[in-house]
Amino acid sequence: MPSDGGSAAPAALISESRIAARVAELAAQISGDYAGVDELVLVGVLRGAFIFLADLVRRLTVPTSIDFMALSHYERGSTPSGAVRLVMDLRVPIAGRHVLLVEDIVDSGETLAYLRRMLDARGPASLKICALTRKPDRLTADVRVDYVGFDIPDAWVVGYGLDYNNKFRALPYIGILQPTPAA
Ligand code: IMP
Ligand code: MG
Repeated sequence: MPSDGGSAAPAALISESRIAARVAELAAQISGDYAGVDELVLVGVLRGAFIFLADLVRRLTVPTSIDFMALSHYERGSTPSGAVRLVMDLRVPIAGRHVLLVEDIVDSGETLAYLRRMLDARGPASLKICALTRKPDRLTADVRVDYVGFDIPDAWVVGYGLDYNNKFRALPYIGILQPTPAA
């Protein structure tokens, strides 16, 4: 994680148009995979996934319902410790239903491993994971991601829902956060 949020506009890594094109591809793939299913429950992980989920769901051609979960990461200084706590659970039971977990980013994969264990224990008919971005070089957890938007380098990225200290979420593209040069 960068030591400073900085104030300069983050350098673009993935443009708005590339994101839109990839979201459309993912939606087509997911719609094909779930064709014929009565309902797909999309579970968004707050807050980072809200923009991705909003764009994805409008391109799916299968019937959907939407729910959210929120997590909090325990931090040791500025370094995430990997431990996660549930701060908001789903409002609906998922037993017997088809569930697609929608995440903004897979870094170590610990968050998704935790979520998958928790949701699997509730007996969904199926459970798959869709992540907008993934940092393959950082992955330590053993977790399968079924749909990945973009594999990205090991850098702190912001925009399109992704934040640094809860800032930059509304940037329309995905950018790399540049540490502010010392004054
Ligand atoms: P994990 O290491 O895969 O468990 O990722 C934990 C969480 O850290 C993700 O869900 C994001 O909320 C956050 N995160 C990891 N890398 C980045 C990044 O580059 N930008 C913004 N958030 C990130
Ligand atoms: Mg997240």
